[in-house]
Amino acid sequence: MEKNIIWHRPTITKLDRYKKNGYRSSVLWFTGLSGSGKSTLANAVDYELFQRGINSYVLDGDNIRHGLNSDLGFSKEDRNENIRRIGEVAKLFVDSGQIVATAFISPFLQDRELVRKMFPAGEFIEIYLHCPIDICENRDPKGLYKKARKGEIPEFTGISSPYEVPGKPEVVISTNKLTIEQSVMKIISYLEERKIL
Ligand code: PPS
Repeated sequence: MEKNIIWHRPTITKLDRYKKNGYRSSVLWFTGLSGSGKSTLANAVDYELFQRGINSYVLDGDNIRHGLNSDLGFSKEDRNENIRRIGEVAKLFVDSGQIVATAFISPFLQDRELVRKMFPAGEFIEIYLHCPIDICENRDPKGLYKKARKGEIPEFTGISSPYEVPGKPEVVISTNKLTIEQSVMKIISYLEERKIL
């Protein structure tokens, strides 16, 4: 970082926004294999929050890789940088008083912990979408597992690149057992229990 850069305190604080909005801004960090349901659930939760009049937004891996992170691939270094940048972007959303749902594989523990440390306690909610790889592979909504099995996609998560299971996620959802509605309600209940909503 340049040395002559000085942090400017915003006039309106997160607390001000909380008092006005009536809910706490936070990040719902969805993590899981390709095909585990991250985008589906992040959007379903976003929809539920929207219906309740809460300002929320989804940051999605595929979409962000079209723009902000279009310079990054899937090497370990690039995934590290992908998640670091998303952590910073998520922080801006949280500062702006929103609930932001992020849908990134984010396969490495270290990257997720780095992002967790960007937030005060309670604002980073890790939601692990547990789904056996054979089921994800059966779903294969984009045909990527098929390509990866044929060796056409290098470093494909779960096949030729690791996925490190979260140690202590705030919420675990078995997406092969719960419906989308049940999964959304599990997340909403968590947010209500923690007085985020
Ligand atoms: S990461 O690991 O968090 O940096 O990945 P992310 O930004 O979430 O991007 C994952 C989506 O990119 C597609 N894709 C791949 N995924 C995993 N491994 C490899 N090599 C790969 N190449 C392309 C894929 O569509 C992922 O989306 P999801 O929604 O997870 O299927």
